[in-house]
Amino acid sequence: MQINANSLSLQAVNFQMMKVFARKHALNTLLAQKKEESFQLGLVPTMGALHQGHLSLIQSALKDNDCVVVSIFVNPTQFNNASDLNHYPRTLEADIKKLKTLSSPNIMVYAPEAEDIYGTTISKQSFNFDGLEHQMEGKFRPGHFDGVGTVVQRLFEIVQPNNAYFGEKDFQQLAIIRKLVELTKFPVKIVGCPISREKNGLAMSSRNVRLTDIEQTHAAKIFSVLKTTKEKFGTEDATKIKEWVDQQFENDPILTLEYFEISNELTLEPIDEKQDKMKYRAFIAVYVREVRLIDNIALN
Ligand code: PAF
Repeated sequence: MQINANSLSLQAVNFQMMKVFARKHALNTLLAQKKEESFQLGLVPTMGALHQGHLSLIQSALKDNDCVVVSIFVNPTQFNNASDLNHYPRTLEADIKKLKTLSSPNIMVYAPEAEDIYGTTISKQSFNFDGLEHQMEGKFRPGHFDGVGTVVQRLFEIVQPNNAYFGEKDFQQLAIIRKLVELTKFPVKIVGCPISREKNGLAMSSRNVRLTDIEQTHAAKIFSVLKTTKEKFGTEDATKIKEWVDQQFENDPILTLEYFEISNELTLEPIDEKQDKMKYRAFIAVYVREVRLIDNIALN
């Protein structure tokens, strides 16, 4: 059976025993029947092309909640690059098969078209996230976090989850979503989950499917550089480590470094010198051809 969000009717489609909704009204009708006093609902927002990293988020959500909604929606307002949006993998059928491997009757999929989320006008809100939005991804992907904030807020309004799960691979996104909840006072608990990695250390990402085997092997260097950064952080200052990282990518035939920062984990502001009792993290963005990969590591 070929499916896409368009082919899903107003009601849930029971795709091989997985409930898949294209419309918020149908989803909410079913959720309303389930919500009793102590009912806990989890939300795992995704853009599809699910991998083991997503499945581990969903497994955490299944442990904490009676029911988990997995949203699958490639959100146009968070892409600042049309080619990236066009090439973003869309694999709903394969995603549902992967969800089935979790063998849980408590998963529901919300896979809408843009209209169900945005109405007839697709636009993004402008947010002030106390400066978190201006660092790293914010500098290189202008407007990205306005798009993320807009869609995550809409998803919270539609699904009304008790708990929502986000991966630490997008650590800046996680910090921004925590800020969004603080600002809007939306009654949801944000749960951050550790980065899932391939055997060679490459952080799992939906974009990895766009890499050749050779590129995937080579991209293991990203995590290996981060691990050495962590070792160096004990004895060397941030400026020196940054120079060292630049050198590692200078003549690389496959990987192009976009940024590397050592930042305060709370403010995400880059540092030159460390201070006692502060927590720091290293962040990196690298291109393999036009495929952009990000990763990060806690330093102390
Ligand atoms: O991390 C993602 O996949 C997306 O940014 C999210 C949170 C699903 C919003 O579209």
